[in-house]
Amino acid sequence: MEVRGKWALVTGASGGLGAEFAILLAERGVNLVLAARNHERLDALATDFRSRHGVEVVTHPVDMMLPGAALDLYHAITKRGIALDILVNNAGQGLQGAFLERPIETTDRSCNSTFLPSPI
Ligand SMILES: NC(=O)c1ccc[n+]([C@@H]2O[C@H](COP(=O)([O-])OP(=O)(O)OC[C@H]3O[C@@H](n4cnc5c(N)ncnc54)[C@H](OP(=O)(O)O)[C@@H]3O)[C@@H](O)[C@H]2O)c1
Repeated sequence: MEVRGKWALVTGASGGLGAEFAILLAERGVNLVLAARNHERLDALATDFRSRHGVEVVTHPVDMMLPGAALDLYHAITKRGIALDILVNNAGQGLQGAFLERPIETTDRSCNSTFLPSPI
């Protein structure tokens, strides 16, 4: 599949799997919108991708757990005239251990952070 010149949104792009997906996409010439909370890390990746792969990169610092965050991200992208072709909906955190031994608040936070579009 030819993906060069297409646009991808990677949430949770500042580290872990998200950053790895972003690297793989940049290597293939895909322009990127990178979203996560750590803006310094996003900016560092963006600088690297632009210089190394010549792709366009937009960074969007965001806490996806906040109500309306997904909508804000959507507006920020469309305002720039970007039409997305690829979504890597990766931002989130994993939980370990027994469900019944974990405080419900922890589980609830984690479920919210899998970032289906937040309440609008
Ligand atoms: N690694 C595994 O074995 C595994 C297995 C199953 C599922 N997963 C899922 O795959 C995804 C990535 O896992 P990973 O191991 O790469 O995790 P990770 O290393 O902890 O990275 C998580 C990424 O999500 C971002 N993030 C976390 N909370 C956020 C928030 N509230 N708003 C915006 N961005 C947020 C983090 O950036 P900031 O801190 O800068 O915001 C980071 O870029 C997660 O959804 C995880 O549940 C992973």
